[in-house]
Amino acid sequence: MRLLKNIVLIGFMGTGKTSTGRLLAARLGRPFIDTDKKIEQESGMTISEMFRIHGEAFFRRQEQEMVAKVARYTNTVIATGGGVVLFPENIARLKNNGVIIALTATIQTILDRTGRRNTRPLLECAEREHMITKLIEERAGLYQVAADYVIDTSTSSPQQITDTVVAFLRQGGYLRGRS
Ligand code: S3P
Repeated sequence: MRLLKNIVLIGFMGTGKTSTGRLLAARLGRPFIDTDKKIEQESGMTISEMFRIHGEAFFRRQEQEMVAKVARYTNTVIATGGGVVLFPENIARLKNNGVIIALTATIQTILDRTGRRNTRPLLECAEREHMITKLIEERAGLYQVAADYVIDTSTSSPQQITDTVVAFLRQGGYLRGRS
């Protein structure tokens, strides 16, 4: 049986991980998993509810458990939450069996994209731009270090981002697998 690495999308909120992941999985004929969605399904509550009721630290533990679980899969496209890089063991696990693609975007793009729906507890504040800037400052280096490949999505559609990811995967031989 051919074993293929997972394709793992990391990056800040609003960089297009979920929409790109879904398209990429469909294009490659692989299963798609979004860790946030899976945490919501298994816990029966939204991420916002989880932050409000149990706090961020509780969510981070659920996220770590979910990452440990999905990192054991193969052949799967995995979209992660923006904070997955905060814990080095998350990245170590995902890297062990996956190729890591970081999606980036400008602060203005993130502000626009995340303003459409209010599903992100960390951005439920008056000073959204300030918060985004601060969190990106803290995390930008972590995304860069973790990534095998980085794509700026600011001016691209999910379709175009998917094309870029597929081209990178082809070139790197990631779509051929190992016996
Ligand atoms: C978070 C990003 C969210 C979600 C949670 C925390 C973060 O995921 O996991 O609200 O810390 O950046 P998305 O990046 O999919 O929005």
